[in-house]
Amino acid sequence: MGKVYYISKNVGLGLLALAAVALVTILALSIAYDKEKARNRGTSGDGTGDSTSMPPTTSSTPKEPWDRYRLPHSLVPSSYNVTLWPRLTPDENSLYIFTGRSTVEFRCVKETDLIIIHSNKLNLTDFNGQLAKLTSLSEATAPAIQKSWLVPKTEYLVLQLQRTLAVGVMYSLHTEFLGELADDLEGFYRSEYTEDGVKKVVATSQMQAAYARKTFPCFDEPAMKAVFNVSIIHERDMIALSNGREIDAIVDGVPVRTTTFEPTRRMSTYLLAFIVCDFISIQGVKNFSVSLQVRIWARRKAIDDGQGEYALNITGPILQFYERYYNATYPLSKSDQIALPDFNAGAMENWGLITYRETALLYDPVMSSTGNKERVTTVIAHELAHMWFGNLVTVQWWNDLWLNEGFAMYVEYLGADHAEPTWNIKDQIILYDVHKVFGIDALASSHPLTRREDEVNDPAQISEMFNTISYSKGAAVLRMLSEFLSEPVFARGLSSYLNTFAFSNTVYTDLWDHLQKAVENTPGLHIPHTVHDIMNRWTLQMGFPVVTLDTRRGRITQKHFLLDPDSVVDRPSQFNYTWFVPIKWMKTGVEQQQYWLLKDTDTHDEMSVSGEDWVLLNTNVSGFFRVNYDLQNWDRLLSLLNTDHQVIINRAQIIDDAFNLARAKIINTTLALRTTTYLSRERDYIPWESALRNLDYYILMFDRTEVYGATSRKSPTTGPEFLQDTPTSKTFHTRQGTKYNQINAIEIACSTNVEGCRELIKGWYRQWMENPQHNPIHPNLKSTVYCSAIAFGGVEEWDFAWKMFKNATLASEAARLRSAMACTKAPWLLNRYLEYTLDPSKIRKQDATSTIQYIARNVVGMPLAWNFVRAKWSYIFQQYGRGSFSFARLVNGITTRFSTDFELQELKKFKEDNVHVGFGSASLAVEQAIEKTTTNIKWVTANKAGVLTWFTEEST
Ligand SMILES: *[C@@H]1O[C@H](CO)[C@@H](O)[C@H](O)[C@H]1NC(C)=O
Ligand SMILES: *[C@@H]1O[C@H](CO)[C@@H](O)[C@H](O)[C@H]1NC(C)=O
Ligand SMILES: *[C@@H]1O[C@H](CO)[C@@H](O)[C@H](O)[C@H]1NC(C)=O
Ligand SMILES: *[C@@H]1O[C@H](CO)[C@@H](O)[C@H](O)[C@H]1NC(C)=O
Ligand SMILES: [Zn+2]
Repeated sequence: MGKVYYISKNVGLGLLALAAVALVTILALSIAYDKEKARNRGTSGDGTGDSTSMPPTTSSTPKEPWDRYRLPHSLVPSSYNVTLWPRLTPDENSLYIFTGRSTVEFRCVKETDLIIIHSNKLNLTDFNGQLAKLTSLSEATAPAIQKSWLVPKTEYLVLQLQRTLAVGVMYSLHTEFLGELADDLEGFYRSEYTEDGVKKVVATSQMQAAYARKTFPCFDEPAMKAVFNVSIIHERDMIALSNGREIDAIVDGVPVRTTTFEPTRRMSTYLLAFIVCDFISIQGVKNFSVSLQVRIWARRKAIDDGQGEYALNITGPILQFYERYYNATYPLSKSDQIALPDFNAGAMENWGLITYRETALLYDPVMSSTGNKERVTTVIAHELAHMWFGNLVTVQWWNDLWLNEGFAMYVEYLGADHAEPTWNIKDQIILYDVHKVFGIDALASSHPLTRREDEVNDPAQISEMFNTISYSKGAAVLRMLSEFLSEPVFARGLSSYLNTFAFSNTVYTDLWDHLQKAVENTPGLHIPHTVHDIMNRWTLQMGFPVVTLDTRRGRITQKHFLLDPDSVVDRPSQFNYTWFVPIKWMKTGVEQQQYWLLKDTDTHDEMSVSGEDWVLLNTNVSGFFRVNYDLQNWDRLLSLLNTDHQVIINRAQIIDDAFNLARAKIINTTLALRTTTYLSRERDYIPWESALRNLDYYILMFDRTEVYGATSRKSPTTGPEFLQDTPTSKTFHTRQGTKYNQINAIEIACSTNVEGCRELIKGWYRQWMENPQHNPIHPNLKSTVYCSAIAFGGVEEWDFAWKMFKNATLASEAARLRSAMACTKAPWLLNRYLEYTLDPSKIRKQDATSTIQYIARNVVGMPLAWNFVRAKWSYIFQQYGRGSFSFARLVNGITTRFSTDFELQELKKFKEDNVHVGFGSASLAVEQAIEKTTTNIKWVTANKAGVLTWFTEEST
């Protein structure tokens, strides 16, 4: 599945009040970077909503085969004929429905008198008292059906036969059914939008992870691959799309027509897609040599406005890149990508018909920001990577999801870099994945990447696998592996894996086998253990080490890194929390040969230095570990940062390590804050962003306390030197060109003069209000300006934003406004906005939880959002689906600021009060929120005085 991204913070002008010198420059840039770029690229999958161990599914072993969530695997499907007919107008009961019929051919591989097949929320047609028709495809007749029934809990249709099916014989099972085409974003569902004042209805689908069974009865597990022959019946003025190329078959004299599709390749049910709409497309084969149909689909207006052009431009080059990288041709005859008005995840890699949120596929050269463009590039690169890794070769079961998603997350940077080579995008994995997941994996309640197959059973447990550990730690450890094997060796192993297992399923160790073979076929490549043994340390135990180097003696040690040093790790590890750690390093500016730390403690004489010499570890930041040094070496590195910072190539890592070591009480907070004093001379994006994110934690912890007040009373004494500078070629791409420099100059003027900035921003916004057809605000500044204008303004500003939000024809513009409306300081506006989030005619269901999160991000909105969610938990839970991804993020978003004992008690009470309702996919997030709040309380207590002192002294 693709990623869910959204702007998760509204630091905005609230930050400008913090004027301590150490922060001045940070603030200046925070606007441009923070808002526009980074936040657009937010979370993936489950966000940070993962933690603790999986609860056991059931206490006792289920008695009957249909009480188990996993299929018995006695029947193996080979092909399906599926016909679906969605009705895009409501029936006499005002219900939108679809009807369909399906025939599945399967082979019996284990003797059984039961047919168990998934079916969920479908009303099945009765055939002579039974819910299906069974036929034998051999000479002998099929056994009669004795009894048939549905099991809603495990989502099965069960047929009890009068005698057993014969092993090796093919049978076919026919069903006819009716289902609701609901607006629930799951299975075959309905999306609505308005175009030129007319309401339009789209039928579309989202099958991952377990919703194909809500569309037609099927063996709905990823290993049950089959060929699908699909037909869709629809109105004549609509088009139908599915995984295969369409072979039109129009039946005359009937008001509807049937579109038939080329049979698919052998594929998993979760990758199916069915769409009926009146969208249009652009297509092209420019820059693409293979005869492949590449199309971008969207609402008519969006395509007419040219919003699909950028996606079309980059799809060909990215596919070509992957063909070379994987050494395997694109397996299908077409590639469709479609932008949908309602879509829960960021995008979904359905084979041959990828579905996207509009913000992840559409780009408008005039209206969109650079951040929007980057998001389109990376999401497309991610989904296209899955066409091979995930779709051609698929993991056996959801417990190995991390391999599928981690891999796509890693190679999306390679694909995006190929499409936009000037962006330096590959380095950004450090911020968006490595640093992000470090935060979660440093908790005692984290969990290993790999889960046992029997730990993941029901749909909520599957849904919970789509979390940051799977996506980002998966990406980080695969990147580390690729680095220590070297990319050509990694790619050779990968290609051999993909070619061997094409159209079938694997477990993650199959990849290790093929990489090991590639290692053995590479003369001169030496790794200290096998790929299996090295990677087991990273995938079978949770967490990661902090590597400590004492440069006085060259002594190097490793220890499990825990954010809360008092936390108790009760999850045992067969490796006792030690890792095989590949370390790239340099000494006084000179690269050294890679060093492997293979035990708890080692001495490496070459790492012992004295005098002016210094040592820097993890220089390419590809190692998944933190680094600490003796104080002398820290001092040498810090003074180097202040004199000649470019010599230190992993500055972002130094900053992030220092702040986190301080949170873990390994070094003191002042040392961490000292890593930021050089930033006024920093030109690179990544160190800045790294510092901002770490300081953001301080802001969250202190923005309701005297620390915040004390810092905001100080006025800045120095401005950033940045104004006079021309960014170098290595600077982040948003900042290239004179236009961007001017924007930054304005930003800085704003950040150092709050009053003047207010006037400027209010002026721009007012100009826009007076002439809504002409928005004078530059796309890269819109998020900041909208948020600030609404924060400074009142109901008039808010209502204008609402009107523009409702009228927006570009989804990313609507998304910016939706986020900005959460910036108001007026409680009644915030409460009204909260109410809107549960009214789908006002806020789309796909956006409800993120909107609540934006409100919670606002210091005034946080308690309102918390009360709102507490009061309505049961309603939200019922309405917004149990398997939905968003619950973990909702809980997480609301509780990020929690740092008082009172809040901890409230959280615990919330948990108790809702036991009967449940938390679904947020169960672990609730546990994690409790652990994080506990840690925050301790941190605030320990650091309040120190931080107050630092800001007071630094700013006078
Ligand atoms: C599926 O449809 C094809 C083409 O119409 C037909 O040849 C085949 O027999 C059908 N299979 C089943 C099981 O109905
Ligand atoms: C399915 O059948 C049930 C029971 O008869 C009925 O309540 C429900 O509305 C039906 N579903 C649809 C989508 O018609
Ligand atoms: C797409 O490519 C064409 C041809 O190179 C170019 O003129 C156009 O500006 C590109 N469009 C976008 C949105 O990048
Ligand atoms: C690419 O694949 C072909 C055929 O599958 C194989 O012969 C060749 O060695 C592969 N090349 C690389 C670089 O792996
Ligand atoms: Zn994915």
